[in-house]
Amino acid sequence: MSELGRIAAAEAAARLVEPGMRLGLGTGRTMEAVLRALARRVRDEGLAFAGVPTSEATSARARALGLLIAAADAPCDLAIDGADQIERGTLRLIKGGGGALLREKIVAESAGRFVVVADAGKLVDRLGIGFPLPVEIVPFGHEATARRIAGLGGAPVLRMRAGAPFRSDNGNLILDCPGFAPIRDPFTLERVLRGVAGVVCTGLFLLPVERALVGYEDGRVEELR
Ligand code: A5P
Repeated sequence: MSELGRIAAAEAAARLVEPGMRLGLGTGRTMEAVLRALARRVRDEGLAFAGVPTSEATSARARALGLLIAAADAPCDLAIDGADQIERGTLRLIKGGGGALLREKIVAESAGRFVVVADAGKLVDRLGIGFPLPVEIVPFGHEATARRIAGLGGAPVLRMRAGAPFRSDNGNLILDCPGFAPIRDPFTLERVLRGVAGVVCTGLFLLPVERALVGYEDGRVEELR
């Protein structure tokens, strides 16, 4: 992971924002760098936009920086978000390391344009290797849901935080599933997982990505389309 790469990519992403936009604001450390870069543009250039946060954490961070926040109901012009893995060539993603996958997917799907921002360590040849697929599930019957996902080969592990099950902003649980790696056919896996009643959302982001801005330690930013 490269802090300089992350910041370089974040600054490139912030430069894509135009006055008056409704802007989807993703979640994670890379997005925190984007928020800081946006706050600088607000201060230095008087840039005005309405940010649609994908998590309580992003909402709090954006407010603390003085950014204007809007509800998620109207479509965004552009959504910017980080990723846990970006597949080279296809720009398919795994997201949800921070547990914000459902809101992130709702906002990304509502946006006219979706831009991903990451340091080069997130680029992979095949999704799933080295990062377990997060799957958000409802609490009701979660052990039964986990058994079904285990039966599909997912080897699910209930995400914990401070000794208790992690809860998403939506009150749901997360299963981290290393067993699906390498994910050769993400569309089929998405369909099969969404067929399990307790599953709310998977961390597979298979929607069109306008571009991925990938930052390197030397400050270079590669734009992948
Ligand atoms: C949040 O649920 C995730 O989807 C994040 O977008 C992803 O984990 C990237 O986070 P970092 O920028 O902190 O690596």
